[in-house]
Amino acid sequence: MDWDESLDVGVDAMNDQHKGLLDLMNRLFDLTKQEAPKDQHIQILNKLLVATVNHFDDEEKYMESINYEGLKTHKLIHDNLIARLENLTNEYLASSDIKPPKAFFDFLKFWLSAHIKGIDIKYGHAAKNFSTAV
Ligand code: FEO
Repeated sequence: MDWDESLDVGVDAMNDQHKGLLDLMNRLFDLTKQEAPKDQHIQILNKLLVATVNHFDDEEKYMESINYEGLKTHKLIHDNLIARLENLTNEYLASSDIKPPKAFFDFLKFWLSAHIKGIDIKYGHAAKNFSTAV
């Protein structure tokens, strides 16, 4: 998947982090296509996990900075996404599979297409209103 304007949440710093996450997801997908060894998959997966946790943390701080009223709900969604990502990662690590299962990539794609476009975009709209109100 490539980043395009449909993923633009209207906040440059968050767009940059989303692009970084997308890059890691694409690198992981490329490894599966190249049939790379499992340790290479795990290396990128660990980077993706860390980058996702850091992104959610930064995004929540940003939402707080603009007094975003949807912060509590958004944080709960983040917590669920992290739990799901950790579960999928642990299942993969415990398996004898060389590459992550299709469900893993389905989840990553869902996160991008549904979460960023449907949930993240809302704080982008709130940020516009916040900047015109102050
Ligand atoms: Fe950009 Fe709410 O994750």
